[in-house]
Amino acid sequence: MADESPRRIRLDALAYGGDYNPDQWAEHIWLDDARLMREAGVNLVSLPVFSWPQLEPEPGVYDWGWLDRVIEVLWGAGIRIDLATATATPPSWLIRSHPEMLPWNEDGQRLEFGSRQAYCPSSPVWREHVGRMTRAIAERYGEHPALALWHVSNEYGDHVSRCWCPESSAHFRRWLEARYGDLDGLNEAWGVNVWGQRYVAWEHIEAPRRATGPVNPTQLLDFERFSSDALLELFQLEVDVLREVTPDIAVTTNFMSLLRDLDYWDFAAAEDLVTDDAYPDPADANAHVPAALNYGLMRSLKGGRPWLLLEQAASAVSWRDVNVPKAPGQMRVDSLQAIAHGSDGAMFFQWRQAKYGQEKFHSAMLGHRGEASRSFQETKAFGAELARLAPVRGTRVRASVALVVDWDSWWGSSATESLPSQRLDWLTQARAWNAAFFALGQPVDTVRATGPFDGYDVVVVPNLYVSDAAQAGALADFVARGGQLVVGPFSGVVDATEKVHDGGAPGPLRELLGIEVDEQWPVPDGVSESVEFVPAGLAGLGTLAGARYSTGVWSEWLEVHEGTEVLASYASGELAGRAAITRRPAASADSAASAAGGAWYVSAVLEPAGTVELFREVLAAAGLPARDALDTDLEAVTRSDETTDFTFVLNHGRRELVVDVPTGAAELLTGETTTGRLTLPRFGVAVLATPRAAIAPFITLSDTTD
Ligand code: GAL
Repeated sequence: MADESPRRIRLDALAYGGDYNPDQWAEHIWLDDARLMREAGVNLVSLPVFSWPQLEPEPGVYDWGWLDRVIEVLWGAGIRIDLATATATPPSWLIRSHPEMLPWNEDGQRLEFGSRQAYCPSSPVWREHVGRMTRAIAERYGEHPALALWHVSNEYGDHVSRCWCPESSAHFRRWLEARYGDLDGLNEAWGVNVWGQRYVAWEHIEAPRRATGPVNPTQLLDFERFSSDALLELFQLEVDVLREVTPDIAVTTNFMSLLRDLDYWDFAAAEDLVTDDAYPDPADANAHVPAALNYGLMRSLKGGRPWLLLEQAASAVSWRDVNVPKAPGQMRVDSLQAIAHGSDGAMFFQWRQAKYGQEKFHSAMLGHRGEASRSFQETKAFGAELARLAPVRGTRVRASVALVVDWDSWWGSSATESLPSQRLDWLTQARAWNAAFFALGQPVDTVRATGPFDGYDVVVVPNLYVSDAAQAGALADFVARGGQLVVGPFSGVVDATEKVHDGGAPGPLRELLGIEVDEQWPVPDGVSESVEFVPAGLAGLGTLAGARYSTGVWSEWLEVHEGTEVLASYASGELAGRAAITRRPAASADSAASAAGGAWYVSAVLEPAGTVELFREVLAAAGLPARDALDTDLEAVTRSDETTDFTFVLNHGRRELVVDVPTGAAELLTGETTTGRLTLPRFGVAVLATPRAAIAPFITLSDTTD
């Protein structure tokens, strides 16, 4: 998606710093904080995210003094501010005078005050006060030279992303009226003749609270769309105020990685800078693999423009059941991974570890032991190192593979219990497909199902349950232009109102894929079936020829059109002998390019090794390199400007890795020049600068390792 926003963060270096909560500390500590921040290389802090009650202790009575003073202390130390509008949580006085603004859960229970984000996104009272507070802050600080960026609210949808209160129901009805025009339109869209759902008055429609049994799936899907839109409206309300008062200051709201509940394509379009909060679990040795997909999404939300990692943990978090600290070196490699993937900096939650409250066990840049704490020593050392990466600021990641992220399909395939199986999970599918490319050494961007696909050689669609002709047309064009398209199971099933496409799946993708799904055939829990690829000589498969892989979760009875190649068939179970994976060559062979295009369909959920080997074949068809030796501890990502490729080579594991790299590259972190082979110690990272080449450097394990 093109990004037209002219506003940029006001900072001339990679951003480094974190959330700062000075209102939890005595003022004399602020001076110490500023001194230590300077020592640690901090140039940006986020505040006052949760401080509304401290800024407006009573209705209409503001206390800006402390914020004025802390901003002066920070600015005096040369530190800029990512200034929050403080609307992430309402003050108690507002809630007690307007209890109707508290959110309700699906069971119709009102959620109490006592945590944060205690508001219904649709509440008119809340919206009014949010607009007022945002304006007050913008007018007070809009001209301040320290102001680098507006930080709207905080992690929309973190605790409350859906509300089922009467106000939300009323808002839902207005949203439906705008979408469908009249009740006939709504009744038609929702397919109300099933189970007697016909509506005769708008006020009879409610948010889909828990009902007697399975709820109308289209009502559920619309509620997902509406709920995302309701929070987007709330965001837009603040953006409008900020743009009016400070037209030159960039606006962001911090995202939560690949999050189900909000359509981030829409949110990103409303803001100037994409920011993300990322908390890969240090206890999960493969957490960097889904993290790569999260970051691929962040850079893609604004067409490849740099984004910013606004929050991460210096070490442990405090919200998992078991919160394992980051091992020495792990924060550094995690931060560099985000930067490799296009983040122009690395920020933390938070600067100073809390002494009390819900997050006192959450790590921070400055731990409880102060300067002596390991987290301070490590974050300070990393802050110093970051200066060496200045040349990568503003550069863009080079990726040849894009993965389609479609929130409608995610919601549609998960909001209802009325599906062929509850086990086919959109996120699991997306992550599994990303993981295969990760293993093969190819970074993955994300893209909408309608594109644009320019610059990509491979586009994969893990699932496109909800689909339409526009998407099918864009995908068909991509294949006709020579692209390799891979579509996953249960795609092309329903339209935007959840009606099954005429003739069944894959609906609008039928001609493109050259197959028909007669029936979805989920695999029972605990059962594993298998697929077998056709022998060598047939379909021109490489190492995949004749290979057999297990599948679980899902399979489909496929009918294959003439001209579609069967690459693999089910080799066990009721579907044994029937097509499982197919490829349809590009429709027109007019040009050399279209002759090479292919539309692959994967009806099964393959074991990870099977997906890797299938995608190796896809990459080969696209003329892209793939690693022979697989090691998911190794990651290489290239950011480039017009003249230089900056290739980040990361070892995410605890074993030493030896990799082959270009000879004569300048390594930015050490200042050394490479000699062709590089040893990366545990959690080691190298950033290699080489003249920009037609194809980004492709880094592989050296033969000395296996
Ligand atoms: C984020 C949130 C922060 C802090 C952090 C702890 O979700 O934005 O305020 O709570 O988690 O990991």
